[in-house]
Amino acid sequence: MSDSLNAVWPMDVGGPAGSHEERQPPVDDGLDVPDPARYYSPEFMQREWQRMWPRVWLLAGVACDIPEAGDYFTYTLGHESFIVVRQEDLSIKAFHNVCPHRGNRVALNDRGSVERFTCAFHGWRFCLDGQLDQITDEHTFAPSLVRHRPGLVEVRSEVHCGLIFINMDGKAPPLREYVGLPPGYLENYQIEKMHVVQHVQSEWAANWKTGQDAFVETYHLPFVHPQTQTVMEYYSQQDLFPNGASRMIVPLCVKSHHVADQDIVDEGLRFMMKDAGMDPDSYTGSARGVRQAVQASKRARAERLGLTHYRELTDGQLTDSWPTTLFPNVQLGLHPEGVFIHRFLPHKRDPERFIYDTMILYRYVDDPAYTVPAWMGLAPGTDVSGRSRPPMRRVPLGVPPQLGEVLDQDSELLPIVQEGLRSRAFRGPLWGEQEARIRHLHRELDRYLNGEK
Ligand code: FES
Ligand SMILES: [Fe+2]
Repeated sequence: MSDSLNAVWPMDVGGPAGSHEERQPPVDDGLDVPDPARYYSPEFMQREWQRMWPRVWLLAGVACDIPEAGDYFTYTLGHESFIVVRQEDLSIKAFHNVCPHRGNRVALNDRGSVERFTCAFHGWRFCLDGQLDQITDEHTFAPSLVRHRPGLVEVRSEVHCGLIFINMDGKAPPLREYVGLPPGYLENYQIEKMHVVQHVQSEWAANWKTGQDAFVETYHLPFVHPQTQTVMEYYSQQDLFPNGASRMIVPLCVKSHHVADQDIVDEGLRFMMKDAGMDPDSYTGSARGVRQAVQASKRARAERLGLTHYRELTDGQLTDSWPTTLFPNVQLGLHPEGVFIHRFLPHKRDPERFIYDTMILYRYVDDPAYTVPAWMGLAPGTDVSGRSRPPMRRVPLGVPPQLGEVLDQDSELLPIVQEGLRSRAFRGPLWGEQEARIRHLHRELDRYLNGEK
């Protein structure tokens, strides 16, 4: 089989014309070198809170976590907390998680199921639609204080492809205009048919943007994650979309162009073949042909199992990773077998801390020959059937998050990068073209902060 991937810069994986894989026209985001204070200054953090966070669509969670009326989850962003709850008519509403009486948090758990929300401080009760249901000892309140029947304050919410977004700004454009990705881009993965099989929140000693910047480029792979280079090309195709959205295509099931031997099929590629339902012992071709062979195998397997949505996906989408940014703080790792949701959540007070929230969603296939791919990094014995939703695991600052070798390598590095960003000698990031998505994100952030949006 011939070498199907030409790893030269600028990278183009050769997606079919008109497909979502096709390389997008370039976008000029300039060459400004921003002041590194954006990564540590409390004033910059304050500006983000005033001008950006309250005005953008935020990925609060996933619809599969609240299937029944009364099911809810909470979403915390800095000092704000929200309740997202399934209504009696199965629509979804979101509220600020704050009691109008004296400000207590109304929902204290990550998730649950209720008929009414009851505040734990003085027992005020609220209906699922946020309306005030009951004030404890109401006869002891002057009627004028509570005549407006204070309920939970609603925020806008919209569901797109099984993902629930909220927005604190009543005047923001609708979600579909905001997302910036072409129609069908997310839809084709059928995320709404997946469910959560792992959820971890870990706290890292870095700004939320220091964290996110490290996840939107593959330039660092040969250095921080050298073990990836036998199964992954590190030149990735860069595609920039409107409103700060972007995507890179990271070819998998190939050896990086840095690896001298491009022919021998070693252990990493054999694993990838097994994950695709192939028998690596019966593969006689070169390493250069593995990506195409895996694509063909997955295509045939999908047809056999009735996974007809694969027909909407290009061959490249069956093997490659498509990390996709939704501005401001979401990275989606899109694969037909499952989706990784990474959210970079600012700390409530400290600009040099963030909460790294990772969820893995999996499309369960009820077939004994179909197994969870090893590259998803799930702990052995994880129940992927969707019958039970695993609790969120919280990892405090300074403790390795145990998210797999690659992410643990990032978690060790980022606090050191954060220290360097503060140095008197550091003049600001010099982003190359492999880092075009970072510039695109910061350019969009600046539009909010400068009043252009
Ligand atoms: S603060 Fe909620 S009932 Fe008093
Ligand atoms: Fe990394």
